[in-house]
Parts: sequence; C-alpha cells; structure tokens
Amino acid sequence: MQLSLLENSDPRMDAEKRVSELHTVLEYHNRRYYQLDAPEISDAEYDELFRELAALEEKYPELVTATSPTQRVGGAPVGRFRTVIHRMPMLSLENATNGEEIRTKLDARIKKELGLEDVAAVAYMCEPKMDGLAVELIYEQGELLVASTRGDGITGEDVTQNIRTIRGLPLRLTGEGVPSLLEVRGEVYLSLESFQKTNREREENGEAPFANPRNAAAGSLRQLDPRITASRPLSMFCYAPGLVEGATFSSQHEFLTAAAGWGLPVNPLARRVEDVNGAVAYYHEMQEARESLPYEIDGTVVKVDSFLLQRELGEKSRSPLWAIAGKFPPRQAETQLEDILLSVGRTGVITPVAQLRPVEISGVTVSRATLHNWDELAAKDIRIGDTVVVERAGDVIPAVVRVVTTRRTGAERTIPPPQFCPDCGSAVVRIADEVALRCMGISCPPQIRESLKHFASRGAMDIEGLGDKVVEQLLSLGLVRTVADLYRLTKDDFMRFERMGDKLASNLLNALEASKTRDLARFVFALGIRHVGQRTAKTLAQAFGSLDNIGNATVDELTSVRDIGATVAQSIFTFFATPDNRTVIEQLNELGVCPAAVAKTVGGPLSGRNFVFTGTLTRFSRDYARKLVEDQGGNVIGSVSKKTDYVVAGDEAGSKLIKAREFGIAVIGEQEFLDLLEVH
Ligand code: IVH
Repeated sequence: MQLSLLENSDPRMDAEKRVSELHTVLEYHNRRYYQLDAPEISDAEYDELFRELAALEEKYPELVTATSPTQRVGGAPVGRFRTVIHRMPMLSLENATNGEEIRTKLDARIKKELGLEDVAAVAYMCEPKMDGLAVELIYEQGELLVASTRGDGITGEDVTQNIRTIRGLPLRLTGEGVPSLLEVRGEVYLSLESFQKTNREREENGEAPFANPRNAAAGSLRQLDPRITASRPLSMFCYAPGLVEGATFSSQHEFLTAAAGWGLPVNPLARRVEDVNGAVAYYHEMQEARESLPYEIDGTVVKVDSFLLQRELGEKSRSPLWAIAGKFPPRQAETQLEDILLSVGRTGVITPVAQLRPVEISGVTVSRATLHNWDELAAKDIRIGDTVVVERAGDVIPAVVRVVTTRRTGAERTIPPPQFCPDCGSAVVRIADEVALRCMGISCPPQIRESLKHFASRGAMDIEGLGDKVVEQLLSLGLVRTVADLYRLTKDDFMRFERMGDKLASNLLNALEASKTRDLARFVFALGIRHVGQRTAKTLAQAFGSLDNIGNATVDELTSVRDIGATVAQSIFTFFATPDNRTVIEQLNELGVCPAAVAKTVGGPLSGRNFVFTGTLTRFSRDYARKLVEDQGGNVIGSVSKKTDYVVAGDEAGSKLIKAREFGIAVIGEQEFLDLLEVH
C-alpha cells in the first residue's frame, strides 16, 4: 500500500494518516492469518509494515494509541491486576453427562416451564465447550477498552494488556452497525500445539510443565508481565453478549453472526439445530470430532436460540435455565501400576499415590495418579503390578478408576496401611469419622514443606518467587523450620543457593518485605488452619477485625458467625490453643508481619447505608446487587422503613415504591444505582 504524498505537505499530518492506514492494514492481515487461516501476504511483508508503524510511533510518540497493533507485543509488567466488577454477572452452566441428560435436564424441563410439553420443538444453538477460561471484553465505540477474567462471576481481574496480545482478536471492531457498547464474553484457550510448545520450553528451563492446556492458558493470561503472555500464542472464541447498547439481537444465532461480522472470532463449528434431537446428535458428533480438533474441548454447550425464550426462562443464582453443558466422559487409558508411594500433605494426611508406567492421555503424559485413601484402595482391591484404568478429567488429578482383573498374573502385591510416617517415622493415627490416616509429628519435613508453600502461595501471602524450588532449597540447607523463619532470611542465606544471582536474591527479599502488610484475610488463610479456606478466612477477618480477636474467640463465638459451623469453629479454636502455633504467630508479629486490622463493618463508602430493592431488575440479579452493596459496606434490607436510605426500583415496582415516597426516601433506578456504586 503506497501513499500519494502531496508535495510540501505537513510530515506530521502525513505520518498520522499513514499510522491510521497501517492500523487498518495490519489488523486486516492479523485477521486473515489468525482467524481465517488464509494469509494474503508473507510474514516478511507483514513484519515490514509492522516495523514501519513502530518507526513512525517512535518518531511521533503522541500517535501511539491503545488499539495500535504495536501494543499487542505486551507493555511493561504490572504489579497487580486491578479488579473489575462485571456489570452483568458471569454465570456458569449446569452439566449434563450424556446425550440423554440433554433431553431430560434441558429440553423436557424447558418445555414444562414454558407449558410447551407436547407442542412445538425448541430450537437450540449448539457450540463446542472450549476448555479454557472465560473472559469479558468491553468494546466502546468499537474500541477494545477493558478485558477481564471471570473471577468469581461478579468481580474479575483486569487483563486488558494480556488480552491485547491475542492476534486473532480485533482491537477495533469493523463492519456494519458496530454498537456503541458491546460487552462480549468468550473463552480464552491455548491450542494443543502452543500448549505442547509451552511445556517443552518450560521443561528446558527446568520449570514444571502445565498439567493441561486450560491451566497453561490461565497461567499465561494471569501473567503480570504481558511480554510473557505475548510469547504464548493464546486464542479466543466469543460466545455470549453481556450488556449491549446500540444493537439488538433476537437470537444467539443472530448474535454470533453479528459478532463474526464485526471481526470477532466465533467458533465455526457452532450450529443452530431445530430441536433437541439435533442437539443430541451434535453432542455425539463433537465427541468424535474432539480427537482431531487442534484445541481441547470438554463437551458441548446447548443454548435456547431465541433470546425471548431465554428471558422468559431466566436464571438461577449461578446458572441460566436456558442452557446446559453436555460434558464428555473423561478420557481413560490402561497402564501398569508400578508402585504405591506414600505422600504426606500439609496437614499430615498420608495419601497413597500410584506410580504408573507413563501413559499419554489427551496430550499429557500421566505417571502418577491419586488413590485417594486406604479405604478406597481396599475397596477397589488395587495391587502393585496390576493393570489399571486411569482417568483424567479436566484439571483434577488423574485417578485410578479400576483394576483390569483379567490381566492378573498372581504376582501382584497388596500393601498394608502404614503405621509410621514414611518421612519422619512418627506414629500414624486414624481420626474418628475420617477416612484419612494422619502423621502426628510436629516437625515432619513434608508437612513443613507444604505449609511453607501454602503460606507463600498466590492466594495467601503471595510471596513472588518463593515457589517449590526455593522452598526445597531452604529446607535442604536447614535455613527454615517455620514460616516465621522466612522473615529472618538474609541475602547471604539466599546466595548459598544453586543458581542464585544477586538480583534474584534481592527480589526475594523485597517480596518477603512486601508480604508483611498483606491483609488479615490472606494472613488467616496463609496460616493453613484446617477447614479454613480463602472464603472462611475472609469471613473471619470481617467478623472479628483482628487476629487477636479471632485467636481469643470461643467456639460459641466462632459458630455464631454466618457460614461457620461446629467443625470449622473447633478447628480454629484448636489451632490457636496450640502453643506452637501461638509462638509462631508471636514471632511473625515481632518480625513485622502485622496484617492490617480491618474495621468490622468494612468501612466501605456505603458503610451504614440501607438499601431496599423492589420490582423486576433487568440489568442484574438481586444476588449480584446484594454483593455489590455489601462489598462496599452497606446493607440490603427487606422492607422500607425510616431507616432505609435508598430504594432501588426495577420494572413494575409496587407498594414499596409508594411507601418510599411517603417517607421521602430516595428512589433510584438501576443505572443510578450502578453510578452510585461507581460500577463501570
Ligand atoms: S456460555 C450463561 N458457551 O463454560 C452462559 N460457555 O460451565 C455462560 N464455556 O464459564 C457461558 N465454551 O467458561 C458458554 N460456547 C460456550 C462455552 C462456554 C466454554 C465455558 C465458560 C463458562 C463455563 C460454564
């Protein structure tokens, strides 16, 4: 493409025009290459155009825009992802595990609900269920503005920079009728080829390979350094609208067609079928096609095609009533069980693990599988030397399903449950009401190792760089025994490691320092109290406000907190009543690890404000609204009184609205509510 330059024209203006042209041309070729698999120019020609753009941008930095193709290579690393609140919650799907369940759990139920039992057929849109992770893209005036992960469905993480690296995704929508606002959801995935390449590279660098393409995609998307994301060619298919302004669609089919028309990648295997028979046939067809697809799918998704019917059917809190995921059965393979190993976990539980003759299941080599516990081992009569069926489903750890008894030779051996810990030799006990065997040694090395890893992990103290390898070396050099010891480490200690440079050691020390001020919820989770996951830790932090308060609470006080039952309360109480645990916490405090206390009522901007919802909400569900209010410290109450601060009125609001007017309480609509909460 040449530009006819006018003589004596302004070079700055020419540059601006050329930059804009190059955007269009490069994006056009990106689409030909990545989406349509039909490039029109050679890689060298593409690179030349790209370099031309980069040179112009270097000369005129003010011409660099967020949607420039040069921005796809990944900018500077970010410290942490910003949180994004989804304006409409991102739901998940109910599962069907075979074709028949698509009939019973979707079609029959829908027809009953709609009173269509023996009348008409319901038409469906069928799509492959991509095994990746869901993201939401926001295009405003056709420009990609924000991209976020699904997260918990209500809030996700801002991964815009990383999403921009996906070449098959337009940074700018093209074509007819581009809406002023388009929120679109889809699945980010890694092709099998990229997955294998990523794992080869990881192994060459001495890193642990990803267990499956989904984990690899998630790991790449959640990279704080977009340049790493750019080096792992992610892809995406769009499959659902979020909030849209400036365009309407009457069906899923129409939506997908429009989306593809605007340049968005849509799976070409998506197909509209006339009735449930078509949906079941599609499910079986895809199950066969699965083996030859260049990416991983774990089922099909069947959606009522008509948006009118979708609206009529509505949704439950977590999943819509108008769609279902038809999951494929897990893939299995036969191999030989070579040995049964004992693995000691963070809480001392001793799990039998199968060591297998390596076998490939859907592109991943499996050489270990869980045997769950000793009861299961006995029930399935699994013996060393057996030929076994191994199964890999999604991201769960591979499991031994059964023994192929016809292959027994008589040379197989059973092994009894251990009486002593294989690592520290302490006594093993079986706690009443539990199937697990547990090592009771307090200085059992694998327990310490797992506790340290947990403490440093991303959801806990998030100590960057303190992964498996570093923990192993710390333990083998005898540098740490408890989590408190981590904060006593010096640069010299780290310098004793193999392959440790000055920079890496400083980074680790900085990461440790930064972790000292993590919030209370993370700290509580990091302590590794049995039964206390991230969610319970958060509940505890909010209910008690400080570690002292949690540690001094009685079992009764603990159980009085919403969502905390007797077992969990007892476990928390026992943890803090254990002198060793108290000592470690005191040491942590002395070393400056002081989680910030939180105000009990979460002193958010809506602290003390009371909201009432009335009428039919169309933009978001009540659960979603409640979560938004509570996250900012406010309350949602059932009826209007003088204490009510806001009444949020949806369609056809009735008596509550009248009452609100009587009391002179502010009545706001859904948009005003979102504005008030600054949800964008
Ligand atoms: S539709 C309310 N379509 O499956 C509708 N989801 O189990 C929500 N997924 O979180 C999703 N391929 O990550 C839809 N063609 C597809 C999909 C798909 C994969 C994932 C998605 C979602 C999960 C639900």
